[in-house]
Amino acid sequence: MKISKRVSQIAPSVTLEISAKAKALKKEGKDVVAFTAGEPDFNTPEYIIKEAVSSLYDGKTKYTPTAGIPELKKAIVQKLKEENGLCYGQENIVVSSGAKSSLYHAFCAILDEGDEVIIPAPYWITYVEQVNLAGGVCKIVKTNEKSGYKLNIEDFEKAITPKTRCVLINSPCNPTGVVYTKDELLSIAKVAQEHGLEIVSDEVYEKLVFDGEEHVSIASLTKYAKEHTIVINGVSKTYSMTGWRIGYMACPEEVAKAVSAMQGHTTSNACSFAQYASAKAISIKSAELGEMVLEFDKRRRLLYEGLSQIDGIKTIYPKGAFYVFADVSAHFGKSFEGEKIVGSVSFAEQLLKRNVAVIPGLAFGDDNSVRLAYTVSCQDIQKGLAQIKAFIESLE
Ligand SMILES: Cc1ncc(COP(=O)(O)O)c(C=O)c1O
Repeated sequence: MKISKRVSQIAPSVTLEISAKAKALKKEGKDVVAFTAGEPDFNTPEYIIKEAVSSLYDGKTKYTPTAGIPELKKAIVQKLKEENGLCYGQENIVVSSGAKSSLYHAFCAILDEGDEVIIPAPYWITYVEQVNLAGGVCKIVKTNEKSGYKLNIEDFEKAITPKTRCVLINSPCNPTGVVYTKDELLSIAKVAQEHGLEIVSDEVYEKLVFDGEEHVSIASLTKYAKEHTIVINGVSKTYSMTGWRIGYMACPEEVAKAVSAMQGHTTSNACSFAQYASAKAISIKSAELGEMVLEFDKRRRLLYEGLSQIDGIKTIYPKGAFYVFADVSAHFGKSFEGEKIVGSVSFAEQLLKRNVAVIPGLAFGDDNSVRLAYTVSCQDIQKGLAQIKAFIESLE
């Protein structure tokens, strides 16, 4: 059957390819350290599971309102007020099947054919594919290790054209771990205002910030930003609930209505009992989550410090999320077992022969680097670092 032009333009996922190879090697009995998973390796806290189970027994297994159950929307409104300084009503909230789904609906709701979206690179590849699917055009603005992988305001302004409709901000960032400061976000918000742009702010890693860094929602900074930002968040990363598929957006009412109308004809509501469990997750301050952040912090230091000591690897100290982005381009042109390394994909492929799986930076719009997720134990991080060091030392 013929596949539509729109869908056949989706690029094959480099991330999935390398993850599948790593899995196959593990199945063969190889001791692979997989720095590939973009999800916490912790169990969902028990109080959340209990809430889901009791809602199942209580018969909360039917369709819910399209934009989400009032209990969850109320918890989200409260959270945004207390933690982000954002005042919304329930009419501004739409709950979807994961933040990925919220993002796609957001792009569909605001983009017309040919509208441009400014996306700082390195980026999470899903943004690019979703903007394309929604009929938009991605305008990639590169950042690099020297600039701390942050969007430079001059570069941002230069990328704006009469067709620019919005800018995408992801702080804390996947894949770099960058956390934007309040002042940096304020500068971005000012430019957005000067040019009448909308802002899509992906904040799914907001709770994973380290070294006393503070997560700031760009929507909280100015009146314009509040009225022109779609805040995206969810429970996947914060509560180790990736499989539950609950995400949400907070946005102007007309956007919420449009998204709700669209969702009504695509997915209907997000999973009913996962919504009840998410309401519980969001409304309770749990000690377990603090412990999870502490553990991530320990791993972050271990991985960053280990990588920094390996010859020819350049990294920035990640301040958030659970990734280290490492520039390995100093080794391009060298060979491993006779195979030349020409970019991030061949680097990752050759490294896999030493039983370490990383995601090629090409998947994030930066072919000089690879991404390592510290969603594995400290013991595995140490094992992986030793293998990476041995791999680098054996390059010819
Ligand atoms: C930057 C970013 N945004 C959004 C998501 C999607 O999260 P969800 O599981 O809620 O769809 C991810 C997941 O990897 C992510 O890395």
